[in-house]
Amino acid sequence: MARIECPKCKHVIDTPGIVTVCPECGADLRGVMDEMAHRRERLRDVGRDDSVTTHEFIVRTKDLHKIYIMGEVEVPALRGVEINIRRGEYLSIMGPSGSGKSTLFNMVGGLDKPTKGTCFIEEVDMAQLDAFELAWLRCRKIGYIFQTFNLIPVMTALENVTLPMIFAGMSSDEMMDRGAMLLDLVGLGDRLHHKPYELSGGQQQRVAVARALANNPAIILADEPTGNLDLQTGKEIIDLLKELNEQSGVTVISATHDLKMIDVSDRIVHIRDGQIERVEKRADLDLDIGTLGSGAKPELGE
Ligand SMILES: Nc1ncnc2c1ncn2[C@@H]1O[C@H](COP(=O)(O)OP(=O)(O)OP(=O)(O)O)[C@@H](O)[C@H]1O
Ligand SMILES: [Mg+2]
Repeated sequence: MARIECPKCKHVIDTPGIVTVCPECGADLRGVMDEMAHRRERLRDVGRDDSVTTHEFIVRTKDLHKIYIMGEVEVPALRGVEINIRRGEYLSIMGPSGSGKSTLFNMVGGLDKPTKGTCFIEEVDMAQLDAFELAWLRCRKIGYIFQTFNLIPVMTALENVTLPMIFAGMSSDEMMDRGAMLLDLVGLGDRLHHKPYELSGGQQQRVAVARALANNPAIILADEPTGNLDLQTGKEIIDLLKELNEQSGVTVISATHDLKMIDVSDRIVHIRDGQIERVEKRADLDLDIGTLGSGAKPELGE
């Protein structure tokens, strides 16, 4: 765990990111924390792999394997997944239940570690990060959306959306303004103080979208974001994600069963038994709409 030293009283703090003022003297620690984060970023730049043009791919996985151990049984969930995802892309991961979509999602989102292989976010090898760096990356670079919304039930919409901002060390005024702005952006400007149980499923997922955008992430990872929604509401969430993708350039990676996602995706990665079966490009589908799903050749990273 990374530590920081209070610039005023030299007290050492073990949990920067959670504590933003020195517990000894009350000094504001955010400047030191930002400086440390910048320094870490610069350090990472030095270690970048130059064999791939820097930042051309926002996500890269190399020979990604995940084997779950269940007592004496090994469950191979991912078996050598290689994919390059460009900045600003809208990518859907499709496949039957149990094919490994959520597992891949968890690896890319730094929520779990691969058994073998590597996952790079902006050319940073996630396996090389310590707990603090990983938490920083998850907090600042990635926004998560889940099938079951995962909102905190005792918090209002605004509190749910501003929660990640606390971890990023934003000031209270900034948080309130940004939280209200984001909820307005997703069409919930008049629902700031509603708790999740006072909102419909679609509205809850909109709060989750706003929360995912809290710290202006480069990537939104959405695992079955429309799985618990009816057709029309699901379409509205997909349209919202597409709009964000087009207007703010955020990269959207979505694991889905929802065929409506095909319309908005730049590429569709089909996964089966933990392996990439084929990759379809939107451009090809536009040209050949009558043969949707007929199997374009895999062209990873193109
Ligand atoms: N924590 C775990 N422990 C053991 N096995 C697991 C675990 N998580 C997933 N698996 C297994 O790994 C495989 C891939 O699961 P995963 O959840 O990634 O599938 P999925 O494509 O997301 O499916 P769904 O569409 O139903 O969400 C499955 O065989 C599943 O049983
Ligand atoms: Mg899943």
